[in-house]
Amino acid sequence: MLKLGILISGEGSNLQAIINACESDRIPGKVVVVISNNPDAHGLERAKKHNIPVFAIDHRSYSDRNTYELEIVKVLQQHEVELVCLAGYMRIVGEVLLQRYRGKMINIHPSLLPSFPGLHAQRQALEHGVLITGCTVHYVDEGCDTGPIIIQSAVPIMEKDDENTLAERILAQEHAIYPEAIRLIAEDKLKIEGRIVKLK
Ligand code: GRF
Repeated sequence: MLKLGILISGEGSNLQAIINACESDRIPGKVVVVISNNPDAHGLERAKKHNIPVFAIDHRSYSDRNTYELEIVKVLQQHEVELVCLAGYMRIVGEVLLQRYRGKMINIHPSLLPSFPGLHAQRQALEHGVLITGCTVHYVDEGCDTGPIIIQSAVPIMEKDDENTLAERILAQEHAIYPEAIRLIAEDKLKIEGRIVKLK
């Protein structure tokens, strides 16, 4: 069982998809801890319902990113986390987390990277006028949404789409591909060569 630590900031629907996939044995893994930088994140309540230990580590209580991330690393290590999954975690990852979990930390982003990294990816896609967008699960590196890509899913943009309707359809795909990416890692099926992720 791969021990998963999930970092969130808000709703936690991807967290829920991961928990469900673990509990139904679609992933040979277990969510052992959930950490949120936002004490009011709904995802914390979701985790509690499944008896998963939760920690609210509010970045605003720390003087700098390193001290804040040291606290996160401490909790992840206490729970012997083997893979860190960022799931709607709205903080930039700094050197402390990256140094400890490089190659063992993944993220989900609501666009077909490298298009539209950063905030409001769905809005960026609509404003750019692309016809197809989607979502990406990738390893985390020092850039913003730049790491090696594991899985993508394409979502067509409809004429009547606004940010909300598009986000909703992308989210449905996120819930499918995030557990799938974790499964591939848990089953030790992936290797990273430079910026390319290959099946072993
Ligand atoms: C998702 O669209 C994720 O890709 C983005 O933030 C959203 C989080 O949703 N980074 P949730 O908290 O998992 O419901």
